[in-house]
Amino acid sequence: MSGVPHRNSQKTFYLETFGCQMNVHDSEKVIGTLLHEGYRQVETVEEADLILYNTCSIRDKAEQKVFHRLADYKKLQAQGKKFGVLGCVAQQEGEKIFERAPHVSLVCGSASYRKLPEMLVQLEAGQLEAERLAAAQREAEILEAGKARDSGLAARDSLIRITGLDDRQTDECFETELTARTNPYRGYIIIIDGCDKFCSYCVVPYTRGKVRSRTAESVLAEARQMADLGYSEIQLLGQNVNSYKDPTGDLRKKKTFAELLAAVGEVPGIRRVRFTTSHPRDFGRDIVEAIDAVPTLCDHVHLPVQSGSTRVLDAMQRLYNREQYLERIAWIKAAKRDISITTDVIVGFPGETEADFEETLRLLEDVGYDAVFAFKYSPRPNTPSLSLEDAIPDEEKARRLEVVMARQREIQIQRYKKYVGATVEVMVEGYNAPREQWIGRTSQNKTLNFTAAVGEGVADGRSSTTSKATDKPALSAGSGQALSEVEGCVRLTQAGSECGPKVGSYTSVRVTASFPNSLVGEMMV
Ligand code: 5AD
Ligand code: SF4
Repeated sequence: MSGVPHRNSQKTFYLETFGCQMNVHDSEKVIGTLLHEGYRQVETVEEADLILYNTCSIRDKAEQKVFHRLADYKKLQAQGKKFGVLGCVAQQEGEKIFERAPHVSLVCGSASYRKLPEMLVQLEAGQLEAERLAAAQREAEILEAGKARDSGLAARDSLIRITGLDDRQTDECFETELTARTNPYRGYIIIIDGCDKFCSYCVVPYTRGKVRSRTAESVLAEARQMADLGYSEIQLLGQNVNSYKDPTGDLRKKKTFAELLAAVGEVPGIRRVRFTTSHPRDFGRDIVEAIDAVPTLCDHVHLPVQSGSTRVLDAMQRLYNREQYLERIAWIKAAKRDISITTDVIVGFPGETEADFEETLRLLEDVGYDAVFAFKYSPRPNTPSLSLEDAIPDEEKARRLEVVMARQREIQIQRYKKYVGATVEVMVEGYNAPREQWIGRTSQNKTLNFTAAVGEGVADGRSSTTSKATDKPALSAGSGQALSEVEGCVRLTQAGSECGPKVGSYTSVRVTASFPNSLVGEMMV
């Protein structure tokens, strides 16, 4: 974070993020921008002058969360607090948000974030004008005693309505020097934003706008900068990360996705590179070859299948069939390295028959995933599948979800067992004090909780975590978290460790036991 506050440093903001890693990283950039504009970030709504929600609209449940939050805190408007809605719900609902939640002053989609500084200026100017008007009105009220007490507030509300909604056709990603990354060891880089795939159920092309990639040169410059700052793991992000197309006109510098992946992996100081999410249609053999050739590229591919039935895949407009998907899986399995494969599945898509569903279950067996993120189909505004009858009752969707989860659990029990006895390298992510276990992540993106024989009193002074989970889900359902959504349960509190492994360091761990969602082990000395 290179920003230097230069305006009134008393202004405070609170920001809560919903949804995927793209949103999490957008928020890091929004935070950087606000700090640069003189705001200070606070931990509670009560302390903040400006309350922001970076929202997700991928499923109805996600969308409703922001309206619940806005309703919960509406009363704080009386204290002069301002509310802003950012991200996918902002873009999707636009000015309708002002009708549903009149206390909101700012509505801004992700394609308009570069305009945030000017929007903040408008917000502040509006605030000043509103305060002037409110004061004038109060004076008038004193003169005409008995008038409605909060008429001043009404004047304030109607004044401030700022929108950033018209930039979905932009050719640019939001690049900024002001990113305030929250984790000092592992950082995100968005290499491609938006989506032109238009799967029939998905709202993303309408919320994040048209697809646009950054030049490989700028991605590499950011990766080098991060390495210089001490980051050792980089996660390349995109709604369809492997649809990346380098926009540079300089043919000597132009890179394919696989070449960019390899180049980021070769940046000195970078020990791990991940990428998510891949679209099966654009998944080439060259990606597997890059993973085989460059040791820093992680042994993990997240390849959402959505359905095992070609008939349903057609209706979903996924641009591949079951056989083509399985062909890509075969390429990944033919790699020299043991590459872990994870996926997303939607159950209860309109017209999904029992036979289609069975095909999805068979596909789970055929592939042998290490994690499945399964969701009940949720009809979304603007999407083509909205016009299809959502005929599968919610109870049936719930049943199918349960069946997927149960089947996948059995598969994972068998798969995770195989690692017992193996020695693997983990990045240390934190310490779970109540469990007296360190939390590590393998290259395959598995959670490995481990003990370290480092003598008495080692728990003191370690980084600790609020996580209660010992078997953190790699299998998730419904409203649940997807790999591509915020992982809520592990949160680090930083503190130097005198005697155990340091958070952010790498260590070898021998696996001693397995759960369906995680491994357990002992640090090698
Ligand atoms: N209903 C249910 N799940 C959805 N996803 C995307 N759109 C919908 C929807 N309308 C799921 C897909 C995607 C993941 C991020 O969310 O599985 O891969
Ligand atoms: Fe949600 Fe998709 Fe928007 Fe991410 S991009 S916040 S998953 S709707």
